[in-house]
Amino acid sequence: MTSQLIDGFGRVHRDLRISVTDRCNFRCTYCMPQEGMQWQRREDLLSFEEIERVARILVERFGVNTIRLTGGEPTVRAKLSMLVVKLAALDVDLAMTTNGVMLPLLADELRAAGLTRINISLDSLRPDRFEQLTRRNELPRVLEGIDAALSAGFSPVKLNVVVMKGVNDDEIVDFARFGRERGVVVRFIEFMPLDAEEIWSNDRVMTQSDILDCLWGEFDLVRVERTSAPATRWRHADGLGEIGIVSSVSESFCDSCDRVRITADGQFRNCLFATTETDVRALLRNGASDNDVAEALQRSVSSKWAGHSINQVHFIRPNRSMSEIGG
Ligand code: GTP
Ligand code: 5AD
Ligand code: SF4
Repeated sequence: MTSQLIDGFGRVHRDLRISVTDRCNFRCTYCMPQEGMQWQRREDLLSFEEIERVARILVERFGVNTIRLTGGEPTVRAKLSMLVVKLAALDVDLAMTTNGVMLPLLADELRAAGLTRINISLDSLRPDRFEQLTRRNELPRVLEGIDAALSAGFSPVKLNVVVMKGVNDDEIVDFARFGRERGVVVRFIEFMPLDAEEIWSNDRVMTQSDILDCLWGEFDLVRVERTSAPATRWRHADGLGEIGIVSSVSESFCDSCDRVRITADGQFRNCLFATTETDVRALLRNGASDNDVAEALQRSVSSKWAGHSINQVHFIRPNRSMSEIGG
């Protein structure tokens, strides 16, 4: 390692999120429109070799030690396990966030390829509501996917539940129970203004404190000390399980942010909410050296802002939705 990816506020960046496709086999209402999505062309996506090159530069020159594969839905990308093999060879903590529907088929293969951790997005345990939210009737296969991830040996398996007021906030206790029963860590996520159809509004956000209010009466929870990861963690006092809350809206964690992102079409983003990007794909395809690429990445991180400004008048939505940025 020669240097660190450090920004003007002294934050060192070691966590890389790589979107491998903007496509998805679901159509979650808060993420993408039901129809009319313009998918990126195959040739516009970074190849596995290009992804590996950027990742290697970030790992070897800047000490990045965590890589997470995201989408769209990462398992939609053909031969994903070949990419996993390449990235696992970089000796990083290698994780993936998925909707879970392909895990009954892929969990063992991905584990054998070197993936270590899996987070599964699931916003309802009720079949009719699940179908309304995802526009797909696939709850049984996602539940099977959770079991497949556990039996393939992924540890921990986390469930991401985006909580929306008036939509699924009546399932908070059910999810917490489900997590304890199945041995998965449930993380409740505050709804962020990144949805494709712009249905977000402040009064749809269930905040961390609203979520905790639903849980206190039912469970005895003890706070766990926080790290740079976004979730605030609570463990059940009886030792049976843990829950997390990702409170991006009510209590932002930007001051300890250590993340950078690369989109499926090779754009480097220094924040989930960034409004500008660095075109790494152009560098890679126009003969740039590793030094040139490293300098461009470092420049982007140096210009990172202190944090997002959701809830403030000057907040600007990024011009891409969650499905394109990768969460
Ligand atoms: P762990 O490493 O397992 O803690 O995963 P993670 O929470 O970083 O990743 P995951 O993809 O499961 O994301 C969970 C939620 O956190 C999603 O709603 C993400 O959009 C959100 N999230 C992830 N990174 C950031 C970030 O840098 N900023 C903000 N505001 N939210 C983020
Ligand atoms: N707000 C918060 N989380 C979101 N996710 C997708 N859209 C939003 C949003 N608008 C979550 C997904 C997935 C993760 C990558 O981001 O549920 O778990
Ligand atoms: Fe697909 Fe995930 Fe977006 Fe849902 S949230 S449409 S599963 S990318």
